[in-house]
Amino acid sequence: MLLPDSFIEEVKFRNDITDVVSSYVTLKRRGRNFVGICPFHSEKTASFNVYPENGSFYCFGCGVGGDVITFIEKIENLDYIESLKFLSARASIQMPENDKKSEELSNLKRRIYEANRESARYFHRSLYSKAGKEALSYLYNRGLNDNTIKRFGLGYSPKSKYELINHLITLGFNQSEIINANLAYASYNKISSRFFDRIMFPIIDLRGNVIAFGGRIMSDQKPKYLNTSDTLVFKKSSNLFALNFAKNDESDTLILVEGYMDVIALNQAGFKNVIATLGTALTSEQAKLISRYSKEVVICYDSDIAGQKAASRAISLLRETGLLIKVLAVPNGKDPDEFIRSYGDEGKIRFKKLIENSANDVEYRLQKASKGFDLSSSDGKIGYLKEATKILATIDSKIEQEVYASKISDIIGVAKTSIMEQIIKEYRRQRNNNEKKYIKKINQDISSRNDSINKEKMNNLRAAIAEEAIIAYIINNQDLANNIFSKLPCENLCTSFNKKIYKMLMLRNQEGKSISLTALTQDLSSDEISSIAKMLAKESQRNSTKADADEYIKVIIEEKEKLNVSLLEEEKIRDYMKKLKESKN
Ligand code: GTP
Ligand code: MN
Repeated sequence: MLLPDSFIEEVKFRNDITDVVSSYVTLKRRGRNFVGICPFHSEKTASFNVYPENGSFYCFGCGVGGDVITFIEKIENLDYIESLKFLSARASIQMPENDKKSEELSNLKRRIYEANRESARYFHRSLYSKAGKEALSYLYNRGLNDNTIKRFGLGYSPKSKYELINHLITLGFNQSEIINANLAYASYNKISSRFFDRIMFPIIDLRGNVIAFGGRIMSDQKPKYLNTSDTLVFKKSSNLFALNFAKNDESDTLILVEGYMDVIALNQAGFKNVIATLGTALTSEQAKLISRYSKEVVICYDSDIAGQKAASRAISLLRETGLLIKVLAVPNGKDPDEFIRSYGDEGKIRFKKLIENSANDVEYRLQKASKGFDLSSSDGKIGYLKEATKILATIDSKIEQEVYASKISDIIGVAKTSIMEQIIKEYRRQRNNNEKKYIKKINQDISSRNDSINKEKMNNLRAAIAEEAIIAYIINNQDLANNIFSKLPCENLCTSFNKKIYKMLMLRNQEGKSISLTALTQDLSSDEISSIAKMLAKESQRNSTKADADEYIKVIIEEKEKLNVSLLEEEKIRDYMKKLKESKN
């Protein structure tokens, strides 16, 4: 047990799940519960449910579930203790002393943040020292001024592989902390800096912590960039470069570029709403994050083949989040940084023009499609029309569809109404397919997840379903728990995961403790919690009565007897075979 139950219950009690979730998700009431668009996966129809009666949530689309503490863990990217801290602060409750292990972990995280911050300071100082002369002129040559360098905290990691480490050790950091921050690695019996002789770009999270670094080499050597590997405080797939600045920008638009230098050059030119991924392709987590801070995103990737491929991929991920998307192609194969600089003082205005003229992604995709066809031939026209119809069928707005249909009608000389007919047909076909795919996926997810948490469920389906129902029933009706526990001793449960949960509830009940989902979360993994949240979600659909509960108990006992009988049979057969063998000998 990590923290006193009373404290955790208090945190939960003072942080109403509907209130807390509402500040991240728009919830609509549905009966006793609330539904909304899931913040943990991309979806268009709401499958995310909140159940105020027992303080749980569950998404039928992605299978994530839990209580208010789990919710904050996931949405704020915190661990259990940090999430409790977050919620205690929200409700102005005093945190008690932690247990040792989680305290150690959160201490280590804090030390990593501190080591990173000290390193960033150190790199920045080095840039302006004698050792950093070359690096500083490199940055000046690339058009950056001191203000920009300061704003982004750019720095230089010296040639020596030991200077930073010695500095950190003088400040009181130990080797393990430095290695855990991925600032150094152990080699032989020494530790060496990960970064040396590179321009350093600190990566800062939304709360202002330095969580990682990107380091650029100044020569043509490889790798050009070296980034911090994932650590306790850094996951490259779920963070974005400069979002800490961009989120404060007034506009509802974010500009997504490929490189750190692009972000910085655009910032210097006055575009503060620019972000980049951290050396990897955009992920759906990052797409979600972008959609939390903006309504529209301008994708601005290199016009080379790799850049265009990355743009297409990014478009489909971003589209799923419902963001408006524009695609900006920088002319002449330049990246945004080169583009801006090549026009000197005029760069800013020129780039602004590019943004204004940037096509939305439908236009971009139509343009791209048209390139594959010879529009002067009728075969080409038909081919293009087919492609264009598919693209326009992905738009939900009919008015928008009509606008593009008339454009296409102008290009290929086919009546707008017949283009619209095609689009509507295709639209229905795609929706139908999506629906089927969605249902199939949910079914797959449900069965595969069950397999991983409760491996015996498929072989004891009738028992397992009744067990899940009774567990949910007990959690919702602790006042009736004594009665159930006396009728159904835990040996009667067939599947071991459910038996484990049932036993935990029973023990807590005997000790006079509460048996909410929250009471269990401390001792279970996040997948286990999700699967209990799912039991509660299902129970909310059933809304079982006392008679139903008796029925579940009956089913469980019946199934257990069957299982015993079949075990007995097996035993008998084995005995019989043994005897047969002996008699033969
Ligand atoms: P400059 O060449 O200095 O203008 O940098 P850039 O930011 O324009 O780099 P580029 O367009 O080549 O690459 C875009 C982004 O991809 C960079 O900002 C890095 O995040 C990432 N990247 C580029 N090269 C490497 C590499 O060698 N290793 C890793 N891990 N990431 C890289
Ligand atoms: Mn560049």
